[in-house]
Amino acid sequence: MSTQGKIRAVTTYRLTEMKEKGEKISMLTAYDYSMARILDEAGIDVILCGDSAANVMAGYETTIPMTLEQMIYHGRSVKRAVKRALVVVDLPFGTYQGNSRRALASAIRIMKETEADAIKLEGGAEVIDSVNRILSAGIPVMGHLGLTPQSINKFGTYTVRAREQDEADKLFNDAILLQDAGCFAIVLEKIPAALGTMVARELKIPMIGIGGGNGVDGQVLVIHDMLGITNEFSPRFLRRYADLYSVMSGAVQQYISDVKSGDFPNEKEQY
Ligand code: KIV
Repeated sequence: MSTQGKIRAVTTYRLTEMKEKGEKISMLTAYDYSMARILDEAGIDVILCGDSAANVMAGYETTIPMTLEQMIYHGRSVKRAVKRALVVVDLPFGTYQGNSRRALASAIRIMKETEADAIKLEGGAEVIDSVNRILSAGIPVMGHLGLTPQSINKFGTYTVRAREQDEADKLFNDAILLQDAGCFAIVLEKIPAALGTMVARELKIPMIGIGGGNGVDGQVLVIHDMLGITNEFSPRFLRRYADLYSVMSGAVQQYISDVKSGDFPNEKEQY
C-alpha cells in the first residue's frame, strides 16, 4: 500500500529496485480468476500465467500443445482478478521461435487481448531476434533459461540442466544476451544452485529461480504443485505448503455421502 492507502502496483521497474535492495521477489503461477485473486490479495509480487496450464489445467504430458488462444483465455481471466501483482503471460510453443515477425504478432495479441503487463518466452541466442523485435514494440519480456519445457523433445529428459561447463557457459552468455537486449528478468529452471547464484550476482536484472537454489533474486513455483493439488509430481525443488488434494478429495467424499444419505440439504439450506 502507498501512503494514501492506494495499492502500489508492481512494475518491472519495481522488480529491479527490489533486486538492488536485496528484497526477494515472490512469484507463483495462476491460470484462472479465482486463484489469481487469492494470490494477489495475499500479496504475491508476480503472477505468471504459464503454459504449465497445459499440464495442470488441460492434463497434457508436455507444454507443447498449448495454443495462443488458450493462453489468451487464461491470461485474460487472471488479469481481471489482479490489482497489485505484475502479470506475465507465457508465449506458447510455436508462436515465437524462428520468425520474429510472428513472435511480435503473438506478443501483441497477448498484450492487447489479456491486458497483461509482460510476456515470457524460453531460450537465449536461438530466439534473440524475436526478443529484440518484441522489445522494440515496447513490450516487456521475461526470459527463461535452464530447463525449458518447450524444448523437452530436444532434451529428452526433465533432469537438471547446465551441470557441464559448456552448458553453464552457454546459459551465462544467454543471460547476458537477454539482459543486454532489454529483458527485465529471467526465470532459471532446474540448474545447479552455484550457477544460479553466480548468474544472479553478475547480472543487474532479477533472476527468478525454480530449482535454481537460494542465491537467486526470487522464486517461482507452479501453484497446483505448491498447494498439493497435484500429488504425483515431487521434484527436489518443490516445497508443498498444503495438501489440498486430500482436503478437496475429503470434502467431495463428504458431499457425496451427505447427498446419498439425504443429510444435504437440511432445513436451513432450502427455501
Ligand atoms: O509455465 C510455467 O509455469 C513456467 C514456470 C515453471 C516458470 O514457465
